Formats: sequence, C-alpha cells, structure tokens
Amino acid sequence: MSERFRDLRKNQEIRDKVSETTLKAEDFIYPVFIKEKITKKEPINSLPGQFRYSLDDIDEIIKECETSKIRGILLFGIPEKKDNLGSEAYNDNGIIQKTIKKIKSISKLKIYADVCLCQYTSHGHCGVLKNNDVDNDETLKLLDKIALSYAKAGVDFVCPSAMMDFQVSSIRKALDKNKFSNVKIMSYSAKFASNFYAPFRDAVDSSPKEGPKDRKTYQMDFRNPKQALKEIELDIKEGADIVMVKPALAYLDIISKAKEKFNVPIAAYNVSGEYAMLKNSGIDMLYEALIGIKRAGADIIISYGALGILRWLNDNRN
Ligand code: PBG
Repeated sequence: MSERFRDLRKNQEIRDKVSETTLKAEDFIYPVFIKEKITKKEPINSLPGQFRYSLDDIDEIIKECETSKIRGILLFGIPEKKDNLGSEAYNDNGIIQKTIKKIKSISKLKIYADVCLCQYTSHGHCGVLKNNDVDNDETLKLLDKIALSYAKAGVDFVCPSAMMDFQVSSIRKALDKNKFSNVKIMSYSAKFASNFYAPFRDAVDSSPKEGPKDRKTYQMDFRNPKQALKEIELDIKEGADIVMVKPALAYLDIISKAKEKFNVPIAAYNVSGEYAMLKNSGIDMLYEALIGIKRAGADIIISYGALGILRWLNDNRN
C-alpha cells in the first residue's frame, strides 16, 4: 500500500473511491409525529424543518419516505386527551393505531412505533405513578397493552422506550401469546437520562409535571458505560431483534463497544437536541456527525435529518 496518502485525497472522485464509510438510505429510520384533532401539519419550533402531522396530511411525507428508500419510520403520537394511566396509548382507536392502519393501506413502508406512556399521561412520566415514583411492574402491564394494540393495527416493529426492567420479555411474551410472533422488537436498550431530549419534550408536551421532576429513576445514568452494555445484553436475551443506544453523539463509545460485542443490529438515535444543534450549524456538520455515528458502528441511525441528508447527498455527491 502506498504511503503517499495525499494521492488518495487528490480530488473528490478519488476520495469517494477510497472512503471507508458511506451513508445509505437503508441506514436511516425517520421519526414522524402525528397529532390528534388537527387537520393541517404544524411546524415544530424546537426542531427546525420538522412537523407535527395530522392524520389527514401524512400522505405526502409517507410517499417521500417510501421513494427515498429509507428503512422505515418511527411513529410518535400526540393524543388530545391525557390521563393518569395514559389510556389513549392503548386505545385501539387511538391516534397511532389509526395512523398505522392508514399508512399500511397506502404504502409498503416499514413502521416502527414508540411504545411508551409519557406523551399519554397527565403527569408526563413513562409509566404508572405510585408513591411518588414509577412502578415497574404496573407499567409493564400497560406497555404490553400498547404493543398488542399496535400489533393489531399492523405495526412491523414495536419499540419499548420506557426503560422499565423486563419490558422486552414482557412484550415479547404478550405478542407471542396473541399470535403476533411476526411483530419484531427494536428496544431502547441503553437509553440515558439525557438533557438532549429537551426539544422532543417540547414538541410532544411530555415533560414530567407531577411526581419525580426528572426520569433519573428509570433512564440510565450517563456515567455508566458498563451498565449500558449489561442493559443491551439483557434485552437481547429477553428477545430484542434490534437494540438501541440513545442519544448517539455523546455515546459513541457505547455504540462502538456494543457493535463489537453483540450480533444483533445496533441502532443509534441521533436525538432532538443533537439534531437541533447541528441543524442550526449547517448541513455539512450534520453530515460529519452522522458519518461519526456510522463509523462508531451503528447499523441503523434514527435521525430527524434523514430525509434532508439523503437529498443533500444526492445533490452534492453525484
Ligand atoms: C419517550 C421518548 C423520548 C424520546 C424518544 N422517546 C423522550 C424521553 O424519554 O423523555 C426522545 C427523542 C428525542 O429527543 O429525539 N420516552
């Protein structure tokens, strides 16, 4: 091999030929927000370029996702009514259930759906509040109900994101028992109690309003890389088909170690705060960051910038 490395950097064509990392449409999952009881999409102020869609006007974005050939979309619902037990999340006529059915009737796009309670509970926590904390096993019962309800609507992947212990095995059992073994699980396995989620909580109104003031009793402490690997290992044992590290950019070490250690696809969630920061700085910085996530070992990248970056790559690199 030549030691004259500068020969490999002479022009864009040569650089592209020897590049060790590329971003492809298939790498990406695009998060989509659907809000109940609106008729036109609303821009999300905290996430530049992103929208809260209505059930009536998702067709266009679904088409765009399908033609872009991305791996799939990740759905988040914003219900009209919230209550103590987040019952709209497991209402068979809830906003996500309706959305799944509609998308399935117009497209072949793969649908991933977030399974959590925080957008649906009046207190804003990801589970059932009891004695001023979130009760693990009471919450599992509700997560099972949400997953089953999404499965009935036709979802491809359920994505438990509440960080309750044993949420994956509980959902896997519930799905299998009800003849939904074809529905797969992408688990938020190493989900950290991160400050980078702030724009998302603003977008879906899910900040804690009662009980503990934050999510630190269930989401991971970001000082713990070893525990993150244990969480991932356990989720795989419990039946997760894809495991996730979230956020991505401040957690590249975890992505890289998980990729080396485990044999299931590793997803990385480039979260709202990371996206907002990069989007405001420029698309080439977003590109560099996404390459970093891929280089660290992510097989799948969940990013609000997915469609934008693919458009930009098409225009600039071909
Ligand atoms: C629901 C959930 C959150 C995100 C994804 N699923 C918020 C949270 O845990 O508070 C954050 C996504 C993002 O910041 O882009 N539990």
